[in-house]
Amino acid sequence: MTGKQKSKVIILGIETSCDETSAAVLANGEDLRSHVISSQISTHQKYGGVVPEIASREHSIHFRPVVQQALDEAKVTFQDLSAIAVTYGPGLVGSLLVGVSGAKAMAYASKIPLIGINHLEAHIYANFIQHKDLQFPLLALLVSGGHTHLILFEGHGKYEVLGYTRDDAAGEALDKVARTLGLGYPGGPQIQRVSQEGNPQAFKFPRAMLEADSLDFSFSGMKSAVLNTLNSARMRGEVLSVPDIAASFQEAVVDVLVRKTLMAIKRTGVKTLLLAGGVAANKLLRETLEMSLVRLGIRLVYPEPIYCTDNGAMIATAGYYHYLEGNFAPWTLNAVPGLSFPRRKN
Ligand code: KG4
Ligand code: ZN
Repeated sequence: MTGKQKSKVIILGIETSCDETSAAVLANGEDLRSHVISSQISTHQKYGGVVPEIASREHSIHFRPVVQQALDEAKVTFQDLSAIAVTYGPGLVGSLLVGVSGAKAMAYASKIPLIGINHLEAHIYANFIQHKDLQFPLLALLVSGGHTHLILFEGHGKYEVLGYTRDDAAGEALDKVARTLGLGYPGGPQIQRVSQEGNPQAFKFPRAMLEADSLDFSFSGMKSAVLNTLNSARMRGEVLSVPDIAASFQEAVVDVLVRKTLMAIKRTGVKTLLLAGGVAANKLLRETLEMSLVRLGIRLVYPEPIYCTDNGAMIATAGYYHYLEGNFAPWTLNAVPGLSFPRRKN
């Protein structure tokens, strides 16, 4: 295809907030023409987590080839694009800057609008890639390596945070426990894998529920309880079962996430729950939520695992809705590492 097709809205979505360089081309909000993800996981694995400086450097190397591959696979050129959407926060500042500067340069040179995307919002929009029939209001449980948020989504661009983590994110806690257990990075999928062989009742780890009416989370104390259990056993010369520890911790994290989500559903009266973020790929979380929600007549929607972790398709999807609203970014758009949503006053 060459020359701009006026009837079509074609968005190039770009994601570089953490350790994935990704680009996708989406036509009319529903036709995902291409989706390229270059993951740095193997580079960071030997350090047990993402090293920000290395991440920025890797993004700089892969950014242009990933974008070109996305355009080529979609059989479009810059002239065919309606706009370029890019994550501008939250995330690692150096990583974000690679995407923001690159997208800005490409949009400016192509004389098309630039759209700045909140990464958290995009994770929620990952649900719209495969589900076109979602009706507002929606509640989203966003659980990733950097975030644990309960968000009320009342319309395109209308969000309120009902609760968030006061310390570690759920994925971060899973990653840290996995690292201590020698399971490698990223820890969430490893915890899920070894938990299959473990007894989730073997250890009674605490569930941090905070104040009775709070929708906030706290995973740091729960993580410390696991580390203390391991250290005490080590001092006694005991060897604990890794699968039992993993299964018991996964159970505790999922238990808290589900209980808080049910509280939020009761409080808001929403009929649909969207799961989002890397931890949304967790099988126990999905199954436990499904079981609880079916009884309440609440619909549970979640993206395919590839759209749960960081990806350009979710950026292009969020970008499409911003494009329809004419919500474009100025050329002064900058990376905002601590970007969030407004907090609801209870
Ligand atoms: O959304 P994401 O790719 O990056 C952030 O924006 O943080 O999420 C990555 C997080 C990591 O903490 C990883 O361990 C976790 O998602 N994760 C999982 C699973 N797959 C990824 N956690 C539990 N179970 C999984 N299957
Ligand atoms: Zn993410």
